[in-house]
Amino acid sequence: MSEPAIERVLFTEEQIDQRIRALAAEISEKYAGRELKLIGVLKGSIFFLTALARELTVATKLDFLGISSFANKRSGPGMVRIEKDLDDSIEGEDVMLVEDIVDTGFTARYLLQNLAGRGPHSLALCTLLDRTSRRIVQVPIDHRCFEIPDRFVVGFGLDHKQLYRNLKYIAVLNLET
Ligand code: IMP
Ligand code: MG
Repeated sequence: MSEPAIERVLFTEEQIDQRIRALAAEISEKYAGRELKLIGVLKGSIFFLTALARELTVATKLDFLGISSFANKRSGPGMVRIEKDLDDSIEGEDVMLVEDIVDTGFTARYLLQNLAGRGPHSLALCTLLDRTSRRIVQVPIDHRCFEIPDRFVVGFGLDHKQLYRNLKYIAVLNLET
């Protein structure tokens, strides 16, 4: 088996920038006059989070969570553990969880439940990519850039074995070459 190869570009740098600007305008309008805390999930969401944050016109704070996802026979799929916690409390704050992709939904659901337990004033979910065809648990997505087909993708933060995160575009990776 050879190395996986980029099969085709799904979204170009220009398309991503354009969608992020539109999303940022939507979010800025919704939170006008308030302060928003963006919470990024390391490492996949940092490219999206920083691009989004730069376009927001509301007062914005950032914090980050590091997680590991694993599945085994006993726990079943979708087990998530927080490996690096937030630096600060989110109590009473307007919080937006920023994800690279919502796939089965297990990660986002776990993180939303965990964050909700910390008493934020409001909690929303914003994702770069949404693969609804593989959803197992329902999660409410407040803002998303793109829906994608059931193919493995890389770029703009998304990785395969920690590679490809720094691509400026989002591409389908052919894992079967
Ligand atoms: P979920 O818990 O199944 O929704 O999966 C979420 C996590 O799986 C994401 O945060 C990604 O890290 C990873 N993931 C899911 N699909 C892809 C993909 O196509 N490319 C890269 N990472 C992916
Ligand atoms: Mg990942």
